[in-house]
Amino acid sequence: MKIKVGIVGGAGYTAGELVRILLHHEYAELGAIVSSSNAGNPIYQVHDDLVGETDLVFASELAGDEDVVFLCLGHGNSKAWLTKHELPETTHIIDLSNDFRLEADAEFEGREFVYGLPELNRSQIQQAQSIANPGCFATAIQLALLPLAQAGKLTDDVHVSAITGSTGAGQSLSETVHFSWRTNNVSIYKPFTHQHLGEIGESLAQLQPQLESAMHFIPYRGNFSRGIFASVYTPSDLTQEEARELYQKFYADAPFTTVSDKEIHLKQVVNTNKCLLHVQKFGKQLLITSVIDNLVKGASGQAVQNMNLLFGLPETTGLGLKAGLF
Ligand SMILES: NC(=O)c1ccc[n+]([C@@H]2O[C@H](COP(=O)([O-])OP(=O)(O)OC[C@H]3O[C@@H](n4cnc5c(N)ncnc54)[C@H](OP(=O)(O)O)[C@@H]3O)[C@@H](O)[C@H]2O)c1
Repeated sequence: MKIKVGIVGGAGYTAGELVRILLHHEYAELGAIVSSSNAGNPIYQVHDDLVGETDLVFASELAGDEDVVFLCLGHGNSKAWLTKHELPETTHIIDLSNDFRLEADAEFEGREFVYGLPELNRSQIQQAQSIANPGCFATAIQLALLPLAQAGKLTDDVHVSAITGSTGAGQSLSETVHFSWRTNNVSIYKPFTHQHLGEIGESLAQLQPQLESAMHFIPYRGNFSRGIFASVYTPSDLTQEEARELYQKFYADAPFTTVSDKEIHLKQVVNTNKCLLHVQKFGKQLLITSVIDNLVKGASGQAVQNMNLLFGLPETTGLGLKAGLF
């Protein structure tokens, strides 16, 4: 039996990644891929690497009989879309925006959204009707901190620097994704105020309720198109060996999150659903580095991982993707 899939926001980056992954998913059948800008056009006219691979055409509406609908819309637009379009209760929603990620936003028009970070909420995701897929920075940073929180070892301020590629900003053009601006350039944005801090804080508090650590997060724009490299450090009484063992144990059953013995770099994970972590101790500071592909583990790959869990499939189905190391 195949899972009938609908996608809304079809011309965007995360929707394109979903189509690429789901075309090769043995239990998924792509139905309507809804686009407000491209209805009637072949998918490959927008996602042009798909030429020769699919003759699917963008639709103007969902078919109505989908088992799962992925909402790939900008922040605020998922709520607006759901207000205008009623979906059957039996249709699962996986939303990629930040509209339903926080506890205060998790209930909407009778739907309950579960925060879709499998390494944190696997069993709740398996029972969920609807999923709020995590943010990309939030995924990389939480995976770097969850084992410490579960052990009650987040006892001091946490400092985070994380750099992202230009696809993190979506497909629409702006000055900071213009080639002339972005290439050979680095900059910061939203220092100490990035919107992902909310969901990171709630997940850490879920594991360590007495959490009082402040998080200081500086996001960077990088001179590349895909990926996130995060470096996270906090004072710790754990030795390097104790910390590595803690991380290995926490992620023992997580098929996509691996603790590396060696230092890590971005190209090990770009185009894959993997998160690699590396743990080191310098004096009092525990340094955790974390790498993901913002569009795969940070968005559409994780969304498919969540779909697999929702439908009782092995978590890795359709996600055996290959890194472009060279
Ligand atoms: N990019 C990432 O790395 C990343 C990672 C994690 C989460 N996310 C989140 O995932 C969501 C989609 O991101 P994206 O990168 O795919 O964005 P995107 O490339 O800008 O695509 C969003 C799509 O939404 C549709 N759209 C635009 N304005 C709309 C409106 N006012 N009302 C309804 N639909 C509208 C458009 O598709 P049509 O023209 O086909 O309708 C557009 O292509 C965002 O909430 C983003 O924050 C993105």
